[in-house]
Amino acid sequence: MQTILYQICGNAAADRRALTEAGKIIATGGLVAFPTETVYGLGANALDAVAVGKIFAAKGRPGDNPLIVHLSEVSEAEALAYTTPAFYKIAAQFMPGPITVILKKKSVVPDAVTAQMDTVALRCPGHPAARMLIQQAGVPIAAPSANCSGKPSPTTAAHVIDDMDGRIDMILDGGSCEVGVESTVVKADETGITLLRPGAVTAEMIQAQTGLAVSVAEAVMHELKQDEKPLSPGMKYRHYAPKAPLTLLSGEDSAVLSYLQERLSANKKCAVLCYEEDAAHLSANEQMIILLGKKYDIEEHSRRIFSALREADAAGAEEIYAPLPSAEGLSLALYNRMIRAAAHRIIAIPAGAPAKNV
Ligand code: TXA
Ligand code: MG
Repeated sequence: MQTILYQICGNAAADRRALTEAGKIIATGGLVAFPTETVYGLGANALDAVAVGKIFAAKGRPGDNPLIVHLSEVSEAEALAYTTPAFYKIAAQFMPGPITVILKKKSVVPDAVTAQMDTVALRCPGHPAARMLIQQAGVPIAAPSANCSGKPSPTTAAHVIDDMDGRIDMILDGGSCEVGVESTVVKADETGITLLRPGAVTAEMIQAQTGLAVSVAEAVMHELKQDEKPLSPGMKYRHYAPKAPLTLLSGEDSAVLSYLQERLSANKKCAVLCYEEDAAHLSANEQMIILLGKKYDIEEHSRRIFSALREADAAGAEEIYAPLPSAEGLSLALYNRMIRAAAHRIIAIPAGAPAKNV
């Protein structure tokens, strides 16, 4: 299949033409990758089970991992799900924006979208091109991240091309994604609000701005225990993984830096993700030092993380190391993605005495 590539260029007439064409592809059962404020999505008509099936085939996604349904307006939720007062409280504060809410589904939503679950995940993206695409399609759009299953999520059109060229009908290039990690996912049922996936909208923000208490699912911070049933099917899959094994390091800055230098000196094909302030203290082939931004700038780390993992692969890395981020506030999203990209490989380095074995 020939994949058409369109730039969203800011010229209103040209963008409208591209989005109208993309909307027609969705409405007639095709697949379009499109930018959102979080990551690129791979969209199909959410009401068409056959079209949705093509998403699973293009990504190689397990059929038991449900998709998020994207709306252009919050009011479209009523047709798809049994909404609750908590949903509207969250929507009033954070939609359109990087948050997804799980509700009991109505029968119009095909089982293929929700992986046979009785709930559906709804999100109203903040990116204007994403919303206009949904309007032009005239239907809600089911969309996972537009990467091959298991790989880091795409935050540029180039990442989508790498994974999806020849497999889908169209890619809309809207530049780099503003947030860089996927939306916050919460479940809003009679038991209250549970955070299933952290994102740019934090549990603290939801609590402060809606007055609703939020509990954080265990699996956000830790590995699922054997036989533990995940609250969200996506929790159980290998995710965000670069080709080379990633290991995270915790400990004092100086101890972590000397450990990193030791690895870089031992292996020319070792890549390190690090903060700008630390790069000057490391010596290695330039392409093996991949910058995450200034140390304090968590938003920038989030924007760059998936791209950085792809860069390490492109540089031919055999092993990748990165500092373990904090699990507080906004950094929890980054922490959650990185521990999973690292398959929970974390080394605690004692101060003054860098660990020797990996
Ligand atoms: O930012 C985002 O959310 C991006 C953009 C494209 O909107 N989408 C995205 O989709 O990250 P995906 O499919 O890569 O991740 C959706 C997550 C998965 O972990 C899935 O298991 C979970 O949401 N999910 C979807 N529907 C669910 C449901 N009914 N119950 C529990 N978890 C659900
Ligand atoms: Mg994904």
